[in-house]
Amino acid sequence: MTAALSPEATTRDAPPQPFDIRPFDAPVGAEVVGLDISKPINDADFARIHRAHLDHHVLVFRDQQVSPADHIAFSRRFGPLEIHVLHQFHLEGYPEILIVSNIKENGEPIGLGDAGAYWHSDISYKEKPSLGSLLHAQELPGEGGDTLFADQHLAWEALSPEMQARILPLRAEHSYLAKYEELRAKNPWRPKLSQAQIDEVAPAVQPVVRTHPETGRKALFVSEHFTTRIVGLPKEESDALLAELFAHSVRPEFVYRHHWAPHDLVFWDNRSLMHLAAGTPDSERRKLYRTTVEGDVPF
Ligand code: OGA
Ligand code: MN
Repeated sequence: MTAALSPEATTRDAPPQPFDIRPFDAPVGAEVVGLDISKPINDADFARIHRAHLDHHVLVFRDQQVSPADHIAFSRRFGPLEIHVLHQFHLEGYPEILIVSNIKENGEPIGLGDAGAYWHSDISYKEKPSLGSLLHAQELPGEGGDTLFADQHLAWEALSPEMQARILPLRAEHSYLAKYEELRAKNPWRPKLSQAQIDEVAPAVQPVVRTHPETGRKALFVSEHFTTRIVGLPKEESDALLAELFAHSVRPEFVYRHHWAPHDLVFWDNRSLMHLAAGTPDSERRKLYRTTVEGDVPF
């Protein structure tokens, strides 16, 4: 009796794809040139990609003229996918994809236009934050629209030993709602959340310093967007400490600024980095598709 090859086995044994991994002249990031993520990727090639992701924290896969289904299938190789709470902005037929866009059609926004308005790590407000996110360029503006990435391992390592000792035992609350109404006041098209959506994003408490589960490296894990308070500290002390950490965590020497090229697929590690949308002029159109890989409970 011969066992039929499963599709997964076929993929794992696929012929190698020739591709290069070229680190950027920046604190983090590398571009992957020559790989087609819609073609089968064998185990050895996948291991190279995985290793490069851990080493560089953000990989830019160039020229991926691939479908939403390909984007989803590639993302799934890194873990189960999150379904974003803003179901208003799921791509039709693909709830795993969140549309990030400033475009309005018939007066209605087609996606989340102000994703990344403040520095953050995706989904840090849930008990299991994201491992990483994959953002695929669909339509790019003629000017603006860059995305910035800040290395939180470097941020941790650059703190004084006194500050490291002070914050190591601390925990902080993260809330999706922390800046929601403020953003909604500026961008009235942001949907009003239903009670079910509010219940889905109950705040989570996370370590202020987390350990990367795969590399063992420590990283600062507080953000301007989602972190509301340090647990157990008086409000004034908590506010002052968070302000100091926020300013430190995004110093220019920790940052890579990504200027998007057509069909870039950017995969960053939310356990190592924070990111920020630099902003797009209202006169320019920008549309990207995002998948979000689920991660572990931080420790
Ligand atoms: C995101 C995000 C930044 C950007 O999609 O998670 O923060 O530049 N996007 O669009
Ligand atoms: Mn984000």
